[in-house]
Amino acid sequence: TPEKRLPSKGDVLVYADPAKNGAPVALADIKEGQVVYAFPKGKVNGTDVVKNGVTRNQLIIAKFPPSQLKAPTNLAATDQGIVVYSRQCMHLGCAVEVKPYPSKGLQEAAVCPCHGGVYDLTQGAKVVDGPPPAPIAQLPIKVVGGQVVAQDTFLSLPYDITESEFATQKK
Ligand code: FES
Repeated sequence: TPEKRLPSKGDVLVYADPAKNGAPVALADIKEGQVVYAFPKGKVNGTDVVKNGVTRNQLIIAKFPPSQLKAPTNLAATDQGIVVYSRQCMHLGCAVEVKPYPSKGLQEAAVCPCHGGVYDLTQGAKVVDGPPPAPIAQLPIKVVGGQVVAQDTFLSLPYDITESEFATQKK
């Protein structure tokens, strides 16, 4: 179904919050220390679709002072300190939540409520605690006309999709 399609180039990130009725995320709401959850919205077969049908398309929009973003973050896929990731945990697929994780010195980490996986959003979402086998997938974005716009699909295989399905959908 269209709602399950991967994010793709040109998709605008819209609020996940149902109260916002699918409006594009405003830059003024993307602040350091305060994340916004979003979905990609874009054309599938000529029709605009909010791609909210799978957990991997739930997105974290975070913002850091650009100097805090470090490898293996793909810095070319960030803009003005804004970095975007899938919320879906790479262990067993729960949706991570962004919160402080003081035991690793992180003011904002992606923390999985299921088995305690923790990802460092300033370092390519590398795993800093718990069982996840890989970082959550980064989505390349740019700020265009005051909106956050996907430049491609996820940079790595997100959870719960096969390599071949990923490759097919990417086309
Ligand atoms: Fe996230 Fe297990 S599903 S740590």
